[in-house]
Amino acid sequence: MKIDVNLGDRSYPIIIQNNLLQNLDEYLRGNVFVVTNTTVNKLYGKYLKKHAKKIIVIKDGEKYKNLATFEYISNQLLASKIERKDTIVALGGGVVGDITGYVASSVLRGVNFIQIPTTLLAQVDSSVGGKVAVNTKYGKNLLGAFYQPKCVLIDPNVLKTLPERQIKTGLAEVVKYAFIEKTACNTFDESFTFFDFLSTKDYKQNYENIIARSCQIKADVVSADEHESNLRAILNLGHTLCHALEKLTNFKITHGEGVSIGLKFIFDLSLKLGLIEKEYYENAIQLLNSLGLKTDIPRAFKADKIIELMKSDKKVVAGEINFVVPCGKYDVMRKVLQDELLIKEILP
Ligand SMILES: NC(=O)c1ccc[n+]([C@@H]2O[C@H](COP(=O)([O-])OP(=O)(O)OC[C@H]3O[C@@H](n4cnc5c(N)ncnc54)[C@H](O)[C@@H]3O)[C@@H](O)[C@H]2O)c1
Ligand SMILES: [Zn+2]
Repeated sequence: MKIDVNLGDRSYPIIIQNNLLQNLDEYLRGNVFVVTNTTVNKLYGKYLKKHAKKIIVIKDGEKYKNLATFEYISNQLLASKIERKDTIVALGGGVVGDITGYVASSVLRGVNFIQIPTTLLAQVDSSVGGKVAVNTKYGKNLLGAFYQPKCVLIDPNVLKTLPERQIKTGLAEVVKYAFIEKTACNTFDESFTFFDFLSTKDYKQNYENIIARSCQIKADVVSADEHESNLRAILNLGHTLCHALEKLTNFKITHGEGVSIGLKFIFDLSLKLGLIEKEYYENAIQLLNSLGLKTDIPRAFKADKIIELMKSDKKVVAGEINFVVPCGKYDVMRKVLQDELLIKEILP
């Protein structure tokens, strides 16, 4: 399957195909430098060996998505005399993809970049759209760029080795796409919605289709608004609360665990605001539950603290909390809320 991200002269394809890792010849030409981590290298590094001039292996973990690793990768590339026409491949999850993309955007002022995402979250979200970054002590993703890859190569077979917790984390973003499909896609078809697909099919048997549909929705949004001046904000559905919970737990919960809690919360809010019908609300919560995603806010967290953190989110303007909320089936809109009482009624 092939999906296009349409961005003029920066357009690129997303290829989704089982066993693609064993068939990379047509995509990897010239001098190729691969960046991966210790875990992924053990599992899949062997498929890149024959294509790579060098494989650079970094440590596994979000805490290594920092400037020290950025410098390490850059030095490895420069010591190997990388040239402008060469290609850097990111083989791994969102951490490897984000930091490698940021290196690719700045080494020699930008070299070719290819994403080979190996987590479900990276396959449906972080490898598409060109946001690349590292973390600093001041917060996550605060140094970064928009830098689009030349292509995204997705082999759903690699999910066979991905731990269940990481599958669930990606699934939360997948469901998010079902909730925004109508707003996101010009080609939206009411008789064949992603929401119904996920509600009726066993996701384990349908990774190729699920990844393709998710990438299509993200590609449509990014093609319409590459730099998040407007529409792209809808990709943050459920993320305001997610970011607060990530901070509260010092990132002990995964991103997707925060997203699924955030999605339930935003449906609660939307129902309270009278923006959606009870039936759609119930079907949405049922979908989250049927995929095994947890949606309860841990009781130990106090509403005041959560609200304070939501107010300090990057996307906040002067004390008001900026949400994306469901406003109809598969439809979302932006909503600024000053009424903390309403939010408190939903929080524990
Ligand atoms: N750029 C974007 O638009 C964007 C969007 C969402 C998230 N992100 C970023 O993505 C990162 C999270 O990405 P993630 O969830 O992929 O986490 P991750 O990259 O840490 O991967 C999760 C774990 O799975 C392991 N792994 C990867 N592929 C595997 C496989 N096939 N089999 C077995 N194990 C495998 C990794 O080594 C790691 O231990 C965060 O840093 C986040 O900020 C970026
Ligand atoms: Zn997300």
